[in-house]
This record gives sequence, C-alpha cells and structure tokens, in this order.
Amino acid sequence: MGEAFGPLLINKLEEFGISGSDCKKLAEAGYHTIESVAFTPKKNLLLVKGISEAKADKILAEAGKLVPMGFTTATEFHARRNELITITTGSKNLDAILGGGMETGSITELYGEFRTGKSQLCHTLAVTCQLPVDMGGGEGKCLYIDTEGTFRPVRLLAVAERYGLNGEEVLDNVAYARAYNADHQLQLLLQASAMMAESRFSLLIVDSLTSLYRTDFSGRGELSARQTHLAKFLRVLMRLADEFGVAVVITNQVVAQVDGASAFSADAKKPIGGNIVAHASTTRLSLRKGRGNQRICRIADSPCLPEADAVFAIAPEGIVDPVD
Ligand SMILES: Nc1ncnc2c1ncn2[C@@H]1O[C@H](COP(=O)(O)OP(=O)(O)O)[C@@H](O)[C@H]1O
Ligand SMILES: [Mg+2]
Repeated sequence: MGEAFGPLLINKLEEFGISGSDCKKLAEAGYHTIESVAFTPKKNLLLVKGISEAKADKILAEAGKLVPMGFTTATEFHARRNELITITTGSKNLDAILGGGMETGSITELYGEFRTGKSQLCHTLAVTCQLPVDMGGGEGKCLYIDTEGTFRPVRLLAVAERYGLNGEEVLDNVAYARAYNADHQLQLLLQASAMMAESRFSLLIVDSLTSLYRTDFSGRGELSARQTHLAKFLRVLMRLADEFGVAVVITNQVVAQVDGASAFSADAKKPIGGNIVAHASTTRLSLRKGRGNQRICRIADSPCLPEADAVFAIAPEGIVDPVD
C-alpha cells in the first residue's frame, strides 16, 4: 500500500510552477494538502486572499494532474477497495460483520443509549489504529475530539497492554482535545487537518458528534441553524476522510420520537441529527445492551454490508468477544 495512500503536501506544488508564497497562502487558508485543493470547488479557492482567477485555474490544473480525479475501471476500483485498510474493534464477532473492522476513508457512526459502549469502543480503536496493518491496525495516530469529558487515558493503557504495546508511546500517539461548544468543535477540526498533513493519522474520533449541538441550539426556533452548522461540520469530516484516508468514527445519542405513530412502536428511539447525519455517515451502527457486560451491535445502514447483528463485550482490556 504505502505510496498509494498518504496525502501530498501543498508545498509540493512549488515543483509544478506554483509560487512558494501562493502555497503558503493556501496552507494558511486551511489547504494543507494537494488533495484538499483538488477536491474543492474553484469558488472556494477564489476566497483565499491573493488567489486570482488565473492562479486558481493553474492551481487546480496542476492539482488535478497529481490527484486521480477522473474515471477509472471498476476492475481498478475493485483492486483498490480490496487493499482498503480496516481497523479492528477488538472483537472478532464485530470485525466479522464489519468486513474486518472500521473502514478507513469513510465515516462510521455509532449510535445508542447511554452505557451501550460507544465511548469504550472509541477508546479501543484509539489504540488498535496504531497497530501494524497485519495485526488489524492502521499504522497511524489517533485524533480524539471529546465533547462530553469522558475520555480516560487509563483505558487506553489497559488496551495497549493487551496488545503488547508500550503504554507511553500509545498515549503520545493520541492527540486529544476537549470541545466546549459547537463552534469550538468545528474549529478543532480545522486544526486537525493541519496536524494530519504533518504526520500519519489513521483514525479521527468525535465522541459525541451531537451533544454540544443539543445544548448550544435549543428549541424548535434554532433547529434550522443547528442543522446548517452540523452539516458544515460533517462536510469537513468527510473531506478529512477523503483527503487523508483516515477512518472517521462519530458517536451519537438517541432520543425518543415524539411524533405520532412511532411512539407506539418498540424501536421508537432514533439517532439525533436527522437526514443530515444519516446521509453523511457511510456506515451506521446501532448499539444496544445485552446480558451483563454484553452489547449487541447492528449494522443499520451500509453501502455494501447486509443488516446483521454481532454480540461483543466490554471488558477491563477494552472491547472483546463475549466469553460464553
Ligand atoms: N474498566 C472497565 N472495565 C469494564 N467495563 C467498563 C470499564 N469502564 C467502563 N466499563 C463499562 O462500560 C460501560 C459504559 O460504556 P460507554 O462506552 O461509556 O457507554 P456510552 O459511551 O455508550 O454511554 C459501562 O457499562 C461500564 O460498566
Ligand atoms: Mg460515551
């Protein structure tokens, strides 16, 4: 794999006739990689101070030559997807229904009630993403955005020990930030892109995606502003998944449906964020409680995996398979 992945740093454009000062302007505007430029509409580049129409055309032309953007055959695409790295969840049952684990380059949403294991799964992944590829890892660092204050490094140490990893190194490879409001959460994501351009990350966690939105935008009157902000956040997340090939894992709470008929159905609780979150998440996993420390994960939506259930357990050493 190696060379096929990994983003191209923006200043590489200097070798293709773009001036160093223009590369610097792009980086300052948040375009740290050639991919980020190639994937952006021209009108966004024109918003960068000092980038004229002619310059934008030249930049896009050069970026387009370096980043594959055209048609390919399904054969080639199939070969590339076969090489796609997945990150182990710590449970063989769970990995099996997921086709290996969390997929890199796309967004996976974990939703469920409190104590269904969303954060515990995130903690396990923050360690397994660092493992070598042949051990089910992503050979990269983890970026962890915590909105609820539930991140516990001691849980990472327990998982590290299980895999025979050096605890100190594991903690050093996790970039952690606590987000305090929805604007801050978005701002952290913009910093994330700069960090990812500098070193190899394989996983980005947002635990949880929606909790700050619920407190910052309350009431029906703010619903539309909330959805607009959330959509923007998710667009940046998708871009990071595309640009850096990281696995993006977001968690989400569920709420009881208040509208009419669904209140009578057994499964009346739905993830927050409506269509905007549903469309942005490539794979949606619903978590619920089982017996004791067991939890059940259901693939609720996926472009290529069938609906399926897997039972896993929450143990001191992280996410595992149930013993019985
Ligand atoms: N060190 C540990 N060993 C075993 N189980 C743990 C440990 N820490 C937390 N848990 C279990 O994890 C569960 C909470 O999971 P969590 O991921 O925080 O839920 P969520 O994020 O979905 O609200 C609790 O049932 C708790 O007992
Ligand atoms: Mg949690």
